[in-house]
Amino acid sequence: MLIPKSTKFVEENYNIEEEASTASLFTTGNGYIGVRGSFEEYGSLRIQGAYIRGVIDEVIDVVEPFADNEYMKKYYFDEEKLKDFEYTESIINNVDFLLIRISVNNETFYPWEGKILAWERYVDMTTAKLTRKVRWENSKGDITDFEFERFASFECDHIYCIKVKITPINHSEKITIMSGIDTRSKTTGQKVIQPISHEAWENKVFVRSKMGNKYGFETGVTTVTNLSGVNCEWSGEKDSGLIYSYTEFESKKANEYVVEKNIYIASSREETVDKPVILDANYNSYFEKHIAEYKKLYDRVNIEIEGDDAADSGIRFANYHTLISASRHDSIHSIAAKGLTGEMYKNFVWWDCEVYQLPFFIHTCPEAAKMALMYRHRTLEQAKINAKEDGHNGAKYAFNSSVTGDEQVHSYIRHPFHQIHINADVAWGIINYVTVTGDTEFLREYGFEILAELCKYWESRVEFTDGRYEIKYVTGTDEHHPYVNNDAYTNYLVKFVLEKTSEYSKELGYEYDFTDISEKLYLPMTENGLIPQFDGYFDLSRTLEVAGGTSAKTRQMKVSGLYHKSQVIKQPDVMLIYSYLNMKPADSNYALNWDYYEQMCESSSSLSYAPHAICSADNERMLSAYNYLMESTYMDVKDIHNCTWQGVHSGCLAGAWYSVFRGIAGIVCRDNHIEINPHIIPWWKNVKFNFMYKGSKISISISSHTYNIISDRDVKIVFQGKEQFVDRNKNITLSF
Ligand code: BGC
Repeated sequence: MLIPKSTKFVEENYNIEEEASTASLFTTGNGYIGVRGSFEEYGSLRIQGAYIRGVIDEVIDVVEPFADNEYMKKYYFDEEKLKDFEYTESIINNVDFLLIRISVNNETFYPWEGKILAWERYVDMTTAKLTRKVRWENSKGDITDFEFERFASFECDHIYCIKVKITPINHSEKITIMSGIDTRSKTTGQKVIQPISHEAWENKVFVRSKMGNKYGFETGVTTVTNLSGVNCEWSGEKDSGLIYSYTEFESKKANEYVVEKNIYIASSREETVDKPVILDANYNSYFEKHIAEYKKLYDRVNIEIEGDDAADSGIRFANYHTLISASRHDSIHSIAAKGLTGEMYKNFVWWDCEVYQLPFFIHTCPEAAKMALMYRHRTLEQAKINAKEDGHNGAKYAFNSSVTGDEQVHSYIRHPFHQIHINADVAWGIINYVTVTGDTEFLREYGFEILAELCKYWESRVEFTDGRYEIKYVTGTDEHHPYVNNDAYTNYLVKFVLEKTSEYSKELGYEYDFTDISEKLYLPMTENGLIPQFDGYFDLSRTLEVAGGTSAKTRQMKVSGLYHKSQVIKQPDVMLIYSYLNMKPADSNYALNWDYYEQMCESSSSLSYAPHAICSADNERMLSAYNYLMESTYMDVKDIHNCTWQGVHSGCLAGAWYSVFRGIAGIVCRDNHIEINPHIIPWWKNVKFNFMYKGSKISISISSHTYNIISDRDVKIVFQGKEQFVDRNKNITLSF
């Protein structure tokens, strides 16, 4: 397991069994490319993944054998629809450009050959750089030190750089180096990419490939490798799929030799890729430019916690992952459920994006949030087609969305055609973005158009029954209960979206008015303030044993078929209303609802932990808030759901940041003020972070019962219910 050490997460031993999950965790990226933490010497052989945002094509859907019982067939798979979808879209794994193989005295360095005498691998969150230090002894007793480092540039999306220092410790043997590209990569085990041309000349390699047949994007990758510490000649070579530059030299004991490999990666979706692009500056100059840009963002997202090293490092690592999952420049695709760290979920965009991932970006890096929403605008025309196909007006977003925005049915998706809450989630993302950033230009140019189409959909989707509007036959956020009427999360959010869109409509001078529906939309609640998750929910069994229990966490798909009779839920639905949506429905009883649903939630979706942390904090249950926060933070480092190898849980990791911001620091940004209801983790001496509100930076520092705010604009706050003014650049300290 990786060990948190301040700003680093460290692997202290080579562990072949954990290779695949550490590959996800040690992903380096910049939002355009994501490169899994596989080893330079492997090539495409094992856990390799090099993904470019939006470079998606068709693969054969690999169905794991979990559709093997009647329940799964009946409730989870729309078999008729699946029959037509044996192909699915997926992000395509690019050629492996990490490839660097080093031999000492004719033996190639691989971690499982010879002896590893020392091993340390870590990602440093302050630099977004991955480092590996190895002392290796080959079978002849020659000991060599290797220090690898690599990063994806935050200054230029297309640049990826690697450096390797080689030091012979007890020998002066021949060292050979091959550095280039392995073209044999596979996507979900399938050979998809087709090489178009490749060249290797001296220290340079260029490979152009076609990334599939449906969209047929091409990629061009150029590598330039240099060696310092010795004069050498490079020759270009090709050997069964490996295209590389090769050199050899007689080493001298204790001398240091440095390999620098600078890589340019592009795809035909943004530029022509028919010619090599040679990067002729040195590694350090690319690193300096990268770090200048990265530091600015790091400062915006970083949370510093004094008095709790595990939380401090863990949240930083979660933030690192969230930061590398989104693009600040490109709306061709949006933020996927696994970021760019693996092929699971094929890199589709889910509701996770607007509800779980966007809060992080909206408050720290609004330019990335805007790109994600621009992607929804790019796919609006397709969303209108989706709605029409369903027999409704307006627009309906795909629950699983690829580059075009049509519904991507694949084996890991649960009832996508019924999870229409996506249409309220997208609207929520827009409203949340506009509220926090004040970007009314975006609202006017793009956001309102989407909101109006979404509301037209709801207008045609609601049913008028007994004097009220209802929303029937949906799957809420809890996938254990498909096909329900009046799902609480959906209804409460739709009402809010209809109201807010009507309000914006007036402000912008449009004539849309959805208030008749919003006023009469049924909001489920019992007399004592409990909110039923859907009609008839409380009639289901509260005690029935459903298959799985805790083991459901590891394979929630393997169920016996009893969830539809049980109140056990997979993930929060009602509790999202209070936590992520920041609503406190009148006459409801927050604590009563939280007590009820906490017990019924099996948390077999990682999307449970952050809302649970917030609900616990709001109800002053700080130990439980802390535990949920740590589960959200360490979800992948501890591999809590046993599937980190498939890619990290990006929505959950983004939730670690939000749990501190919204849960502990108690911040909710409203249109004209900021609400603050702080809580305290008793052993945290201090927690410090910055966030953005309406284009200004606000810095927060909380130490036991004192709350310090400094803002670079005048801002109104409501602190524990009391209105206060924070003047520009004037430090204010409040007690709580
Ligand atoms: C959850 C969904 C989520 C998806 C992707 C599923 O297990 O139930 O709510 O959107 O994973 O993270």
